[in-house]
Parts: sequence; C-alpha cells; structure tokens
Amino acid sequence: MSDLFSEKLLTLARQARRVAVLTGAGVSAESGVPTFRGENGIWRKMDPQELASLTAFMRNPELVWEWYNYRKKVVNEVQPNPGHFALVMMEKYYANFTLITQNVDDLHRRAGSENILELHGNITRSYCLNCKTYYSDIKVTEFPQAPRCQCGGLIRPDVVWFGEMLPQREIKLAAEAARKSELFFSIGTTAEVQPAGSLPIEALENGAYVVEINPDPTVISDHVHECVRGKSGVILPKLIDAIQLERNDLK
Ligand code: OAD
Repeated sequence: MSDLFSEKLLTLARQARRVAVLTGAGVSAESGVPTFRGENGIWRKMDPQELASLTAFMRNPELVWEWYNYRKKVVNEVQPNPGHFALVMMEKYYANFTLITQNVDDLHRRAGSENILELHGNITRSYCLNCKTYYSDIKVTEFPQAPRCQCGGLIRPDVVWFGEMLPQREIKLAAEAARKSELFFSIGTTAEVQPAGSLPIEALENGAYVVEINPDPTVISDHVHECVRGKSGVILPKLIDAIQLERNDLK
C-alpha cells in the first residue's frame, strides 16, 4: 500500500512491459538547473526571441554564445539527482522503456540512461551552420568570440530554437513510444511547448494509463489519469521502492 500512488498505478507499474516517460526542466531542478517557466524561470528574465532563435543568433552570435556558454557552465557544475537515477532503474526494469526528454542538459545520459530521445537537442553538442560538421563539445574558454568551423562557417549549439523543427527521427520514435505505451509518465514539464506537450495526450488517446509527476498543476493535469504532486527527485525513488515492494510481495 502507498499513500502517494493508486493501486492501479502500482499494479500497472509492476506488470507493464511498455513504458514511456516524458521529462522536462523540472526533473533537473533539484540538480540546480533553473526551469524555464514559473516564478524563477529563465523566460521570466530573458526574452526567448533574443536568445533562442536563429534570427537572434544571426543578429548577435556572440551574445547567444555567451548565454549558452553560461548554461553549459551551469550544467557542467551540477550532478544528476535521485530522480534521474530512478529513471535509470526504470529502464532496467521494463522490457520496453523509452525516455523522451525536452532537456538539453545531458543529465539523463550522465546518470546512466541509455535509450534517450532528445527532442530539443543537447547543449554539449554543436554544429557548423555551413558544412554541418558536428562538434562534441566546444570549450567555452577557447572562444571569447562565436566559434567558427574550419570551413569558416559559424558554429551553433545543437539545440532546437523557437521556430525550428524538432529532429524528425526523435519525434517520430517518441510519438510511436507514446502510442504503444501501456504506462506513460509526464514528469517535470508544463507540457506547454509543442509537439512534446502533446505526447501525454497521444498516449492517453491510445489507451495508456497516464501519470503526471509535478509539484504543481499543468495544462494536462485535468486530462491525465493520475497526478502525483511532489518533486521528481523525491517521488520517483519512492515509486521504485513501491514497485520493488510489490514485486517482493509476490514472491
Ligand atoms: P518548464 O520550465 O516550462 O516547466 C518546468 C516544470 O517543472 C513546471 O511544471 C514545474 O512545476 C515543474 N517542476 C519544478 N520543480 C520540479 C521538481 N523538483 N520535480 C518535478 N517537477 C518540477 O519546462 P519544460 O516544460 O521542460 O525549449 O519546458 C519545455 C521547453 O520550453 C524547454 O525544453 C525549452 C523551453 O522553452 C527549448 O528550449 C526549445
């Protein structure tokens, strides 16, 4: 028994084979990475159109790089939290597990998750706008100016900016995983940015049991089957414990 989770969720979490998870900035909040919306959100202080669009980059690549260098520094200095590690355990637990993330901070991979679909790119990667050569990590201090490729082209962070398409392979696989899942978790996301925000609804419409884990209500809260209110770094380890307890009960 658990006060936090319904019997239905615990039973499904124990028996399901196909599980998909969508994560957002809230999953990294307990690591010390600021979220985008809400009281102290990044977009309260910065204008996305001035920092996170191709137009902004072409207008002032130095300014955009300065901001991304700062964000790279922030994520380099933090560590994955218990929520990230719980998701690594879930991947081991289920026959078919897909971790879909909107986060660019690389913390899921650093925690040890393997099957990750990064919908908005990854801040540790960059590529040349001209010849499309990829760079695994541009060293911040080496480039007081916007970095340039050997071909002379401007190098940009490999993240999805406003007005840009999501990587086609990732969004296709994410939609497929959502549709086929028996159990779908939406964790630490306002679900306001599309198309990622529609994945929980797509899962729901295709028969999945959909659970939101978030301290606060979101636009999808009224539509999902179950909302677990709390921080993912607290709730997810408890869910793992609860599933293992149930499994032990069966023995
Ligand atoms: P948001 O900043 O919109 O939402 C963060 C969510 O995390 C909110 O619903 C919070 O209530 C919740 N939250 C805060 N702390 C939490 C915790 N400890 N545990 C669980 N949840 C917590 O972030 P996203 O929904 O990820 O896009 O934003 C989506 C996209 O908008 C981002 O990927 C980014 C941004 O513009 C791009 O940069 C393309």
